[in-house]
Amino acid sequence: MIEEAELAEPRAEAGIVVEDVTRSFGEVWAVRGMSLVVPYGRVTALVGPNGAGKTTLMLMLATLLAPTAGRIRIAGVDPAADPVAVRRVTGWMPDTLGMYDQLKVHEYLAFFADAHRLSKAERAQAVPALLATVRLDEFALAPVHVLSRGQKQRLALARALIHKPRVLLLDEPASGLDPRSRIELRDLLRRLAADGVAILVSSHILSELAEMADRAVFVSAGQVVASREMSDLAAIGSDQRVPWRIRARDPEALEAVLTGRGLAGTASPAGFELPPMTEDQASDLLAEAVGAGVRILAFGPTGTPLESAYLALTEEGRR
Ligand SMILES: Nc1ncnc2c1ncn2[C@@H]1O[C@H](COP(=O)(O)OP(=O)(O)OP(=O)(O)O)[C@@H](O)[C@H]1O
Ligand SMILES: [Mg+2]
Repeated sequence: MIEEAELAEPRAEAGIVVEDVTRSFGEVWAVRGMSLVVPYGRVTALVGPNGAGKTTLMLMLATLLAPTAGRIRIAGVDPAADPVAVRRVTGWMPDTLGMYDQLKVHEYLAFFADAHRLSKAERAQAVPALLATVRLDEFALAPVHVLSRGQKQRLALARALIHKPRVLLLDEPASGLDPRSRIELRDLLRRLAADGVAILVSSHILSELAEMADRAVFVSAGQVVASREMSDLAAIGSDQRVPWRIRARDPEALEAVLTGRGLAGTASPAGFELPPMTEDQASDLLAEAVGAGVRILAFGPTGTPLESAYLALTEEGRR
């Protein structure tokens, strides 16, 4: 399913164009007819539950897996026809790292600089600069295997950037990072996007995507189920349904009002968790509870609109 805004995108100029791509592993259809566009200069988030097909799609974009059917263009090039040209312009950060443990950190980056045919001068400039960017400069002489998980991820990010790619594929780059490193990752991706790089990033950490990404593509059970501008998801619209939480001085009286309205709120230490409602529905409920003499202590929406959209859009596709 491609939405109008994406059809309007000048496809020839996009970093990544995916059209009706499928991939099966025997009986399992990991990706079944995905279409999406990742423009230059923007961060596009690939969001979806475990098993949705995110990694499978990224592996195909990174030339590491062939599609069963469909059409992929990276910077205008078909990865199946010319994988070398695609790798030249693409930076790829996998979710799990195959590391060359015997190498020292700076040697590891130099190895990939050579693989991408950087000149000696370029390499001498790029390796320390990138180690500083991902705050691994003090580990330059350490063997890769002494790095912690988050440090290894930061090294993988540096590796993905060594040849100044125009297209960047990051599979859950923030998953092992501490809060400061996540903020730095977000800032780095924003800077790269401002420089015109096309960035596709998969993540489960919804709270961070709102600030990291410009657009979210929701995938579920191997298909794109929706795509939304982050700015449209940033604020709760008055007609949007989001979950609410309510807490009262006298919980039994509150429960009676909820039951009367057919609302089966789940009791939690913080109050009752209520199902998604619009602001109008929520304020009617509050008025009724107060009218019935219930002493309310707190009432407000929980979660973010992005979380609500995610939960609503990906409900069907859990495996
Ligand atoms: N090599 C493989 N052989 C068989 N099945 C596979 C293979 N790779 C992936 N799959 C299946 O394809 C589906 C999609 O997997 P994929 O790794 O793409 O999901 P994902 O969206 O990246 O999930 P997660 O959020 O857990 O990383 C899953 O059902 C998975 O079991
Ligand atoms: Mg994955």
